[in-house]
This record gives sequence, C-alpha cells and structure tokens, in this order.
Amino acid sequence: MNDVVIDCLAVDKVPGMYYLPVFFEPLKIVPLLERVLAQSPLRHMETSRGFKLSAAMSNCGVLGWVSDRKGYRYEAIDPLTGNAWPKMPVEFSGLAIQAAKTAGYENFSPDVCLINCYKPGAGMSSHRDSDEADFEHPIVSLSLGLPARFFVQGRERKGPSVPLDLASGDVVVWGGESRLFYHGIRPLKAGDAPVFENQRFNLTFRKAG
Ligand code: SIN
Ligand code: FE2
Repeated sequence: MNDVVIDCLAVDKVPGMYYLPVFFEPLKIVPLLERVLAQSPLRHMETSRGFKLSAAMSNCGVLGWVSDRKGYRYEAIDPLTGNAWPKMPVEFSGLAIQAAKTAGYENFSPDVCLINCYKPGAGMSSHRDSDEADFEHPIVSLSLGLPARFFVQGRERKGPSVPLDLASGDVVVWGGESRLFYHGIRPLKAGDAPVFENQRFNLTFRKAG
C-alpha cells in the first residue's frame, strides 16, 4: 500500500495546469544533474538581438534547446562541446513521466530536458514554449534550490498574470488548453537554500522531436 499523499492541484484560471508541491526529493537529483553538467556545462546563451539570457542553460536528451544570433531552435549537438547532449538519466524521465501521469497526462515520452540555472536577479521574461513538433504533449517543470515566483498569462503576452510560488521539490505540469500559454519567472531573490545554496535550478521536460 502506498501511504504517501501526493497533492496535485489544478491551478486556478489556468486550464490544464497542475501544481504538485514537494513531489520529488531534490537531493536525489543533484548528483545526476552534476554529471550531466560536467559533460555539457551551463552557459549564458545569446538572443538573436545580441542580449545574453540571464539564466544559464544546458540540456540533456536527444535534442537541446539553443539560442544564438541566428535565433532559437532545437539542436542534436551541443554547440559548446561539439558533442551530442548528455543522455537523459532514466531517473529524470521517470520522474517527469510520473508527474505527467499524476496530472492526468498519460503517455508522456519526454526526449529533451532543458536545464535553467538562476542566480539572484536572474529571471525569464514572458514567453511560450512553441519550438516543439507536437503540442499534444505537456511540459513538466521541476524546481530545485532557491524559491521563485512563476507567472502565467494566457494566449497573449498581456493582461493579468497568475502567480505560482515554486519551492525546491515542486513540479508544475501544463498541457492541453494552456500548453501554449505565456509564462515566465520573476527575478530571483537572494537566499540560502539547503540544496544549491544561492541558486535555483529548473528542469523542463518536453517532447520536442
Ligand atoms: C521556462 O519557462 O522555461 C522556465 C520556467 C522555470 O524556470 O520555472
Ligand atoms: Fe518556458
């Protein structure tokens, strides 16, 4: 019998989005994440307009999300190392599939995991994840380290936003009607987290190919 209570809360005003507080144990992810980052290190990618993204990024999986002066897209080769992206640890995909299932999204088969690392002051402006081939699959997002305020708008990058405070071990899953909703991260506040101290990591799983 499983006596662990798993919360899966439908996010108010955001159809298809679910919040799963304390869904996973961050300490179990840390060594796996460190192994991935030893192969494909974090880096600040550039936008097509020449700005550096404030979150440092890397990827694991068959493809990786990259941004540079040519724009953004998925690539099979890490432009920094010239090698394929590190394999996605089965523990990562297992967790993402389990979270998707808990939120009612069966048959999620993530092939990419984007790793974002935020230091105090870093954030992510409103955007939507629209570079994937198939929007039938949800997005699964894991938070580790410092807390952050995530916000969701809607089909447009304007109007009121729904805030969601994310702590280490929390998961957000969104798909269906909200799969292409605009969202972002408010600039991180300084703090001292038991895991990763003064940083926040976010892992987003998607089916890109
Ligand atoms: C993202 O939207 O890609 C990142 C979200 C997050 O850092 O929680
Ligand atoms: Fe996103």
